[in-house]
Amino acid sequence: MRFGIIGNSPLLNYAIDTAIQVAPTDVSVLITGESGTGKEAMPQIIHFKSTRKHNEYIAVNCGAIPEGTIDSELFGHEKGSFTGAHETRKGYFEVANKGTIFLDEVAELPLSTQVRLLRVLETGEFMKVGSSKTQKTDVRIIAATNVDVQQAIRKGKFREDLFFRLNTVPIHMPPLRDRKEDIHLLFRKFASDFAEKYRMPVIKLTPEAVDLLESFRWPGNIRQLKNVAEQISILEKNRSIDRDILIIYLPGYSQHQYPMIIAREDNEEDNEKQLLYKILFELRSDFKDLKELVFSILKSDSGKIKLTENNSELISKIFEAEAHSDSLTTIARPSDSTTTIQLPGNQHIVQHTQPIQDFVEVNESLKLSDKEKELIIKALKKHQNKRKYAAKDLGISERTLYRKIKEYDIN
Ligand SMILES: Nc1ncnc2c1ncn2[C@@H]1O[C@H](COP(=O)(O)OP(=O)(O)OP(=O)(O)O)[C@@H](O)[C@H]1O
Ligand SMILES: [Mg+2]
Repeated sequence: MRFGIIGNSPLLNYAIDTAIQVAPTDVSVLITGESGTGKEAMPQIIHFKSTRKHNEYIAVNCGAIPEGTIDSELFGHEKGSFTGAHETRKGYFEVANKGTIFLDEVAELPLSTQVRLLRVLETGEFMKVGSSKTQKTDVRIIAATNVDVQQAIRKGKFREDLFFRLNTVPIHMPPLRDRKEDIHLLFRKFASDFAEKYRMPVIKLTPEAVDLLESFRWPGNIRQLKNVAEQISILEKNRSIDRDILIIYLPGYSQHQYPMIIAREDNEEDNEKQLLYKILFELRSDFKDLKELVFSILKSDSGKIKLTENNSELISKIFEAEAHSDSLTTIARPSDSTTTIQLPGNQHIVQHTQPIQDFVEVNESLKLSDKEKELIIKALKKHQNKRKYAAKDLGISERTLYRKIKEYDIN
């Protein structure tokens, strides 16, 4: 364990090695990385491994200090320089002389403060607020940020010259998802700490839960992992945590896991609309064919007609989809190769050619939900139950398909 940093992944080790290597020099260091990746431990490594370690180490959260007082906090002020400035005050740059200042969330500094900071970095000179006297200081600066600095520069929120000056040596803290081998290690450490803190037996993950833990995207990185370990430690009576329990603590698991699907899930409504359109379209086309068929039957002398090649094709087309459907009933099996199809109004048609299919009764349900279920079953059969391809064919997301399979209780 180094300065409370747990982990042994190559990217983390690289960051720590860089910090140790740069420590004895006086160069500025900029630490970048997503929120919760552990940036705050780095400046301590650098300071305590440097020759400045016996002098002041001051950590300043630039994002937490109001804009109106930040210059005064950093550089001090003269008595009477503004309302409420009853005394002359030393700023951190004066106090930390010969030591180290850690400017956390440095991108939050106002532009005017950035100018002062650049000056102190370049010349070691600064002036108290309300003073015209230049002072000297010898401070090592380490800065950190979780924002995209290049973007902040493009937006005019961060001075490029200051960035270059701070970024003499950059250290990037890797996100947790790029250090999968550390995830379970960290979790076990946090779980054991919280067990001690709350005086409860330590929680333990099943192998499936470990897999889930390691495959989660951890957008809040180690901070989030620590929170999850704490929540489970407090809330779960059963100290053996399986996958189903763990998933409850991983908000939006699948969304974070499959970013491509989120984008599609946003359009879930569109997907459903598309499916409905598809069903309506099929219904309409079936209906048109049926109309033609009925028309041709009515035109014949009796209710019974011998089917021509054309009609055979038409029937085949109409009933093809329903051949295996539960909503259609086989009413008779002919002894020869004739096929009788019952139509509404007591009409039926007999086919003397090769049977197109089993006998069916056209009492088909026209409920959209039934149709939808049918279409889903059809798509699943077509793709040998491979949901990915079935969903693609249906024009819906895999998640929507999964939901509908559950909804309609399709096996
Ligand atoms: N390697 C580690 N081992 C143990 N604990 C860690 C480690 N890295 C981070 N932590 C813990 O995770 C939490 C978040 O870390 P930290 O505050 O350094 O994040 P950060 O990178 O500064 O995030 P932000 O940009 O949001 O300020 C802290 O509680 C810290 O103690
Ligand atoms: Mg931080």
